[in-house]
Amino acid sequence: MNFIGFVSVLLLILTLVVSARCELITIGLVGSIGSLLGGVSYYGYEKYKCMYMECCTDEYIPSDLDRLEYMFAARLYGQQIAQETVINALRGHLESQNSPKALVMSFHGTPGTGKNYVAQMIAKALYKKGIESQYYHFFNGRNDFPLQRKVDEYKEDLYKIVSNGLKRCERSLFVFDEVDKMPEGLLNILVPFLDYSVYHKSSKHSESVYQNKAIFIFLSNTGSSQIAQHLTGMWEKGRKRDDTRLQDFEKLIANGAFSEKGGFHHSDTIQASVIDHYVPFLPLEEVHVRKCLVKAFSERGVTPKEEMIQEALSHLTFGPEPHNLYSMAGCKRIEQKVASIVYRKQSESIINN
Ligand SMILES: Nc1ncnc2c1ncn2[C@@H]1O[C@H](COP(=O)(O)OP(=O)(O)OP(=O)(O)O)[C@@H](O)[C@H]1O
Ligand SMILES: [Mg+2]
Repeated sequence: MNFIGFVSVLLLILTLVVSARCELITIGLVGSIGSLLGGVSYYGYEKYKCMYMECCTDEYIPSDLDRLEYMFAARLYGQQIAQETVINALRGHLESQNSPKALVMSFHGTPGTGKNYVAQMIAKALYKKGIESQYYHFFNGRNDFPLQRKVDEYKEDLYKIVSNGLKRCERSLFVFDEVDKMPEGLLNILVPFLDYSVYHKSSKHSESVYQNKAIFIFLSNTGSSQIAQHLTGMWEKGRKRDDTRLQDFEKLIANGAFSEKGGFHHSDTIQASVIDHYVPFLPLEEVHVRKCLVKAFSERGVTPKEEMIQEALSHLTFGPEPHNLYSMAGCKRIEQKVASIVYRKQSESIINN
């Protein structure tokens, strides 16, 4: 090969190398721009989507505990202990930077004392869409899990619902109503979600500091006879309702719930002590029921006279013997009584005019 030939080969090799590098650079550039655009458009899509659909963001999950406190003060009667326990528990859980465990509360009390009412208020304060939020999950023990023999099937379903719900948004709220009507053993499936470690160790979040912002609430009537007995005992000793403290009831409820039949019966959930707060809902006295009645009348645009209140009260049963201090159905179903009284009064006044 002469000199000219040698130079031509060299030039050819150089040209090939340079063009190959250019191509790589071009590919790299196009790739980067592509992924940048992809990222931007994905971000844009997410942002756009969240303008129209509920997302797991602060905007949709304001967790407005001041609003909850206000709702309690304005509309919840006679449940001082429950009110304080719930607010403190939620503040501690949501405002802490590092909450490695889901918040688990168990509400106990006689019918119509406000367990569902409070659970709904919590949902309203947490989520912009309140109980319509896709992050609010409600189960009813009696309706959703009626058969003991199907407990294994229910366990599988429940596990899927809860783990998918948490994947979608870790700030989810799960409410289990009528836990005492659930098949025994079903709640054990929840232990990994309620406890500190198990679920998170096996999840992709295990490396980072995991913020477990989920909230689980159980509602039941178990332990309510113990609550009522204890409150009556205190009343007999001259202690006022407002002087009672959470500590007076916590142990009573836990023992009652554990030994009575139903979802908590000899349950691992209790044994593993994953329930953070046992919240007593005290039986309501006449003074509280009167407030519920006034509210129900005023919601119908009526300022009730004493005789109307008396008539509504006469439909309610107070017990237990001998003092008959507490409304046996709390403030439950009083709307219907009020509705019929208002209807009758209105039709009487039409006839009289
Ligand atoms: N403490 C309360 N203060 C004000 N209103 C109340 C209270 N308790 C109950 N109510 C009224 O009674 C209705 C029924 O109460 P709720 O459904 O919360 O009872 P519950 O405790 O869940 O009873 P159950 O054990 O029978 O399920 C509520 O929607 C609310 O209007
Ligand atoms: Mg209820």
